Amino acid sequence: MRYKGIVFDLDGVICSTDEYHYQAWQALADRIGAAGFCLADNVRQRGVSRMESLEVVLEKAPRTYTEAEKVELATWKNEKYRSLLANMSPADLTDEVKSTLDALRAKGLKLAIGSSSKNAPFILERIGLGDYFDAVSDGNNITRSKPDPQVFCMAAQFLDLEPADCLVVEDAFSGIDAGIAGGFDTAGIGPAAGYEKAGYRLTSFSDLLGVV
Ligand code: BG6
Ligand code: MG
Repeated sequence: MRYKGIVFDLDGVICSTDEYHYQAWQALADRIGAAGFCLADNVRQRGVSRMESLEVVLEKAPRTYTEAEKVELATWKNEKYRSLLANMSPADLTDEVKSTLDALRAKGLKLAIGSSSKNAPFILERIGLGDYFDAVSDGNNITRSKPDPQVFCMAAQFLDLEPADCLVVEDAFSGIDAGIAGGFDTAGIGPAAGYEKAGYRLTSFSDLLGVV
């Protein structure tokens, strides 16, 4: 086998919470009159922290905001986002993702999450994967978000593996850059499947079975 472990991004890889992020940011854009905020902007928000994601919306805002106002805006968005997450259930984990994860584990691979999100534990709980992964590295244990490799390096450490022995799976360009910077092989899915720097380009999550 080529790898000993796999580090998965969460939003847009394991589940479709990328769509909820987009809906919540869109609601904020509407609230503050940031006309023109669109899907291309949302793709740039993938992988980066909540406050950095906010800056992408504010590029289209008609005025500037103080730091305290920015915190209020980010909190407002997060509350909206969490109300969408609260409706999630194990039905939001697709059979394809679940059976692929099980098959990868059965091959002896260690499996971890490497997500910039502070909501990662809540999401994993909602979709029934609260205790599933061998390690979870997320927005709660990092100081720098992607494209910095910190979140993936910590995931590899938690698994007791070297980055060179792990594959990173990402839907974000910033996540592919982070994986490369940390010395990982990378696989792109969704928008990142079209990124020329991605080591493997996945059409579908189950393609991973042919990669490892
Ligand atoms: C990443 C998303 O997974 O988490 C980003 O791709 C988001 O768009 C980041 O900004 C932080 O998420 P949260 O849930 O902590 O606001
Ligand atoms: Mg993602």
